This record gives sequence, structure tokens and C-alpha cells, in this order.
Amino acid sequence: MLLRKPDFFALQDIDAIAAAVRERAGDFRPRVGLILGSGLGALADEAEAVAVIPTAELPDWPVSTVPGHAGRLVLGRLASQPVMILQGRVHYYEGYTMAQVGLPVRVMQRLGVEILIVTNAAGAVNPEFVPGDLMLITDHLNLIGMAGLNPLRGPNLDELGPRFPDMSRAYDPDLQTLARQVARQRNILLREGVYASLAGPSFETPADLRFLRVAGVDAVGMSTVPEVIVARHGGTRVLGISGISNKANLDGSTITTHEEVLEAGKVITPKLLALLRGVLQALP
Ligand code: HPA
Repeated sequence: MLLRKPDFFALQDIDAIAAAVRERAGDFRPRVGLILGSGLGALADEAEAVAVIPTAELPDWPVSTVPGHAGRLVLGRLASQPVMILQGRVHYYEGYTMAQVGLPVRVMQRLGVEILIVTNAAGAVNPEFVPGDLMLITDHLNLIGMAGLNPLRGPNLDELGPRFPDMSRAYDPDLQTLARQVARQRNILLREGVYASLAGPSFETPADLRFLRVAGVDAVGMSTVPEVIVARHGGTRVLGISGISNKANLDGSTITTHEEVLEAGKVITPKLLALLRGVLQALP
């Protein structure tokens, strides 16, 4: 069986999915979209759900194949904000196209989402970071894009945004300020730094990691950047938080495993939840 995966979704494809979500969620209108990273899915249980939709039941929706990613859309309220939570993103390394990786954000935009909060599990390239830390993403290094993989490749959806979108403020400065304030008030240590996205699924070699460090990277992962590009193209404001799941192995002395990433999620989830609750409550 040869399954060709779509490289492009037209507006009507996206709107068909948005309509399928509306069928389940009625006139509930999410303002904030949340994408939960590896091991962080438990956050979705905290929402007062209006609708829980297995993503496999939505047309064209790419289904996550990774342990630790449930594959559910939860629409409801979190800290009294109307939210739409994607529990179980998909990644390029699973064999999906960049268009598929970006599709959930497109659907969020069509449902009215104005702010996207992206989370991920990431390896610490900055030697001061330790597993369990939270990192506010201040910028990203789009290595996967520099290698030619961009979710905006193909005809531009002019209705949603420009052909050549600006990325100089990919992570919204006001949302960053808000996250810093909430972290201070709630005594949560919030690191800050640059996130680099690689295709994966193999982890980095020590030489890869030394290269990333020289390039100014603080944390490395296999997601987030494509979703942020789609968000910014459509004018959605972005807040990005990495949960540091492991120390990246710059000197080759330790090995990194997916189990380690999921374990760290258990420590990170309560802190991340406290931070996100605070941010959601404080949104003007
Ligand atoms: N490298 C890449 N992706 C990751 C890592 C890592 O060390 N940890 C969690 N996701």
C-alpha cells in the first residue's frame, strides 16, 4: 500500500476540519491554543472540557504515533480561558509532511485562536540547565527550515497571511513579559533561551551539540518551530515553553533515551501547569 501524504492543505480542507470540530464543540470559541509536548499531556486533564475529540476521528488529521502523545483535542476552559488543547502533536520524523505538522495550528486559527502556547520536551544544550527546568523560548533556530523543510512551502494562503512572513518577533514580547512576571510571583524558576529544532528521530551526536552550542542554542528538540511558523504566518501570537528533560550530551559521557524524556515530564508538568494557569489568568 502506497500512502501519499499531503504536502499542502487548501483553505477548504482546513475549514472542513474546523467544521468537524464545531460539530462536536458547538459554538464554543477557543481563544488560546495549547500544544502539549512529550510527557506533558497530563495538563489536558486540568481543563474543564466542553468536548474531547480523538484526533483520529477528524478528517485529514495526522495521528501521533509516539508513546507519550495521546492524540486528543480538548476544548474547554483552563483558568477560565476558553482553550483548545492538542494532546499529541505530530512530528516530521514520524513520516508526516511539514504541512501535516502545521495543520493543527491552521485549524486552531480558523476556530478563532488568537494566542498559541507551545510546549515541548527539550534537551539542555546550555550547561547551566538541568532536567526538570522550564525554559521560556525567547527565539528559535530553524535548522530544519534552513535544510529546506518549511510548513509554508507551496502556494501561499493569502487569506491567512503573507507569502514572506516576518519572524523577527516569533515569540510575543508581551507574552514573554507576562510569563516572567507569573514565574516570579509563583516562585517558579524560569530559564530563558533559544530553542533549536532538528528533524530527529535520532538524538544528537556530541559534535552536533557542540555545533548547536556555538550557534547560540540553549535547548534542542524535534518539534515546535514548524507550528510557530504557521502561527506567525496567520498572525497568531506565540508563547513557547520548553521542559528540559535531559542534559544534552556534549562530551559523549551519557546517553539520552525517550524514557528519560517521559520521566522528566512528571516533574515538569506541575510546574508548567502552575505557570500556564498564571499566564492564562493574567491574559488581558
Ligand atoms: N535532543 C533532541 N530532542 C529532544 C531531546 C534531546 O536531547 N530531549 C527531548 N527532546
